[in-house]
Amino acid sequence: MFLQLKNITKRYPGVVALDDVSLDIIEGEVHALVGENGAGKSTLIKTCTGAISPNEGTIVIQGQEFSSLTPKTSEAMGVGVIYQEFNLVDELSVAENIFLGRAPRKGIVIDRQKMETEAAKIFQQFDIKIDPAELVGNLTVGYQQLVEIAKAISQKAKLLIMDEPSAPLTQTEAESLYLVVEKLKASGVTVVYISHRMDEIFRLSDRITVLRDGQKIETIQTSETNLDELVQLMVGRELKETYPQRKHRVSDEVLLEVEGITGSIVKDVSLKIKKGEVLGLAGLIGSGRTELAEILFGYKAKSAGRITLEGREISPKTPKQAIAEGIALVPEDRKKLGALLDVDIKGNISVSVLERISKFFTIDKRREEEIAEDYRTSIRIKTPNLEQKIKNLSGGNQQKVIIAKWLATEPTLVIFDEPTRGIDVGAKAEIYELVNTLVETGKSVLMISSEMEEVMGMSDRIVVLHEGRVTGELDRKDFSQEAIMAFASKN
Ligand SMILES: Nc1ncnc2c1ncn2[C@@H]1O[C@H](COP(=O)(O)OP(=O)(O)OP(=O)(O)O)[C@@H](O)[C@H]1O
Ligand SMILES: [Mg+2]
Repeated sequence: MFLQLKNITKRYPGVVALDDVSLDIIEGEVHALVGENGAGKSTLIKTCTGAISPNEGTIVIQGQEFSSLTPKTSEAMGVGVIYQEFNLVDELSVAENIFLGRAPRKGIVIDRQKMETEAAKIFQQFDIKIDPAELVGNLTVGYQQLVEIAKAISQKAKLLIMDEPSAPLTQTEAESLYLVVEKLKASGVTVVYISHRMDEIFRLSDRITVLRDGQKIETIQTSETNLDELVQLMVGRELKETYPQRKHRVSDEVLLEVEGITGSIVKDVSLKIKKGEVLGLAGLIGSGRTELAEILFGYKAKSAGRITLEGREISPKTPKQAIAEGIALVPEDRKKLGALLDVDIKGNISVSVLERISKFFTIDKRREEEIAEDYRTSIRIKTPNLEQKIKNLSGGNQQKVIIAKWLATEPTLVIFDEPTRGIDVGAKAEIYELVNTLVETGKSVLMISSEMEEVMGMSDRIVVLHEGRVTGELDRKDFSQEAIMAFASKN
């Protein structure tokens, strides 16, 4: 037994995040932790890493008992962690981040050369090209996640806890992650793995523990269960169909036309989105999907090209101008573009519609409350009340608040960049319903997603990018993972 949790309880105002949870982690196993958004997964692992102290219970690591841990003791006991929210310093290089606080030295001077060589060695295992000297702030979320993983690996932990490590990765990069997990396991490292992606849970884990509403429901052998049973245990209710049927036909009218858009990654991109259409945008990390979204949303400048909305040329220079044109972006990086962590749920949602719900410079509080309550029920934002600061919400519930915020602007074009990242299986279906409602009422959706099933399940058409260029376009009847991958990795 590597780690034992005995009767752990953690309370927050209005929430019992963990309710008398007991759990054993066997040495050398890959133990998956699953459950809906807000079930208590991150809270559970934070008690193991010393990030928080439980109100009750005991933690036993390799026979040694603790009523609570500090990050220092936890690390000294061989526990390493990759948190759901990044802990990287944007202003430092990749190598500096990996070796933060334990850099190799020559005398008293940091041995930069050695640090960068060591970092490069770790990346070789992933088969991923990251320059160890690059500033972390310049990397996209996907690459930042890979830096987090490299950092945890470099600590040579005996137990490595990973909280949704694959969430910001595309399928291809996720494959490298799986290989790393398998290698770690082969070398005797114990792994606790949190994820909402069921395929990888089945692929990687030996045992699975299901949490629901802070309680442990069951620990099962992966080989003795199946997807349906697992989902049933997680959500405790009947699930609707994952990709709900759409009841309308896409109109022939074009809503948005993009011609020859060029930025720093995207080159000469042209595409059209029709009214009532979901256009999927596929590609690998770094293929320019996010940049294209950010250009349309006025967050990044284009160096060439035209954008036409309902026949009118537009050139949004700021998100504010884009919103005024009826464009909204649900961003992949919720900290950069989306969330006001220290503001409550109501405030986060209403910030994008202040003008509409204000009279004589005063916010109509009742209207604000109504809008927030509406989304709270429609996409199940799990919270004791709408005054909760969103930094206190679970990762998936923060994402839901951001979605609500942008939908509240009542846009004609919604760009979703990885909309269901970190969203649990039950809530995904609700977000898909929302997308359907949008297009059924004549709005259009541009959907960027690294989850193949999701792009294929939701899009009417898919455009594929490779190194900034459009390499292919597929109609719904021609969708297949192979076809998309062929375009996405075209040379
Ligand atoms: N610092 C905090 N203050 C108040 N409530 C908190 C705090 N941290 C977590 N919670 C609450 O505890 C519950 C469990 O949250 P936790 O982050 O563990 O969920 P999770 O299972 O990791 O969910 P997700 O899949 O969305 O990441 C949630 O209801 C959350 O809002
Ligand atoms: Mg979490």
